[in-house]
Amino acid sequence: MSFAYRSGVLCAEQAPLDELARRFGTPCYVYSSAAIAAAYDEFSAALRGRDALVCYSVKANSNLSVLALLAGLGAGFDIVSGGELARVLAAGGEARKTLFSGVGKSEGEIAAALEKGVYCLNLESEAELERVDAIARRLGRRAPVAFRVNPDIDARTHPYISTGLRESKFGVAHADAERLYARAAAMPGIELVGIGCHIGSQLTRAAPFAEAAGRIAALAERLAGRGIRLRHIDIGGGIGIRYGDDDVPEPPGGFLAAALGMLAGRRETLIVDPGRSIVGNAGVLLTRVEYVKPGAARSFLVVDAAMNDLLRPALYNAWHEVRPVRQAEQGGDAAVYDVVGPVCESGDFLARGRRLSARPGELLAVMSAGAYGMVMSSNYNTRPRAAEVLVSGAEARLVRRRESVESLLALEEPPR
Ligand code: LLP
Repeated sequence: MSFAYRSGVLCAEQAPLDELARRFGTPCYVYSSAAIAAAYDEFSAALRGRDALVCYSVKANSNLSVLALLAGLGAGFDIVSGGELARVLAAGGEARKTLFSGVGKSEGEIAAALEKGVYCLNLESEAELERVDAIARRLGRRAPVAFRVNPDIDARTHPYISTGLRESKFGVAHADAERLYARAAAMPGIELVGIGCHIGSQLTRAAPFAEAAGRIAALAERLAGRGIRLRHIDIGGGIGIRYGDDDVPEPPGGFLAAALGMLAGRRETLIVDPGRSIVGNAGVLLTRVEYVKPGAARSFLVVDAAMNDLLRPALYNAWHEVRPVRQAEQGGDAAVYDVVGPVCESGDFLARGRRLSARPGELLAVMSAGAYGMVMSSNYNTRPRAAEVLVSGAEARLVRRRESVESLLALEEPPR
């Protein structure tokens, strides 16, 4: 257990969170390197014996030290911007193990990706195919590409994070795929290397994931029949994590076994691009209670973290467990609270209707905040972004300093 109570204090590995709060302040993201490595190993173990590459989806948590840890374990990367490419390279990741996805790649991003030698660009439209071909020819190269094909499968997840339906902005339509591959095969600037899909995030059941993999594999088979042989099949990410006791997902091994079943007999390299399932349960957001505010209809714990630090509850109505850092402080005075931040929005909550006993100054941990936490944070209300700390055993290292108000003002011109 990477986050467990020891002598009544919640710890990240061997590091007590109250000590980390004292050292680094709050709000603060704390990640466990052992938990990240264990999650990555679960993927490697499930794929052992298969020609496969795990491309960690950088968007979930792009801290350089997290990326460096994963690069050291042999991970490839799935990126969606030139910024993420720069992060991967700065962290010691390899361009030749990096996939570049996303619907809106700019000319500059495409050129940089080709110059750095990324393994593959995942194309999401015919217009993008034309743009990539033109840029590659201008640079005197052939761009390695795959199409992200929309398998039209309902991932049965939150509509904001469901991406594989026909009406989604992502991917090319399944019905157009063969024509696009044939067209791309004739372009001098294009080298076809693979095919991919991604149906959505926080999937809890393997069936739709495997079904999508099956559809993509069938397409690869048809393309091979037309003489278009691909090196890889990318089955996407989206494997869910446990946030609470409701709807506990199947483990990654179950997802991969189901997908591998659909790919039996296929020789292409298998690529999977998990984000959340690598880092989600490996991080917490540490926050301090500022005020206890009893109310007629609802009572509030006003804490020093807010929707600008962790947007998921406000944006998706996502549920994160909230635990007291000191178990002993959970006396008989527990009550039901909404845990809210200082931001001036009614949507600024981290949790609602939780039974907690809390006094001002007490520390709380918002659990499972390692994915889509810090990366989605903002400076709304001119709030400096939180610090990030990476724990390994008893050792804790500040891996991103807390922003300062001065640094927030620095990009603006002094008023005249
Ligand atoms: N591959 C592609 C092409 C993707 O679009 C995504 C995520 C992933 C892989 C990684 O998915 P994961 O394994 O992390 O589920 N902000 C939302 C999640 C957005 C996911 C976007 N795409 C949230 O906080 O729930």
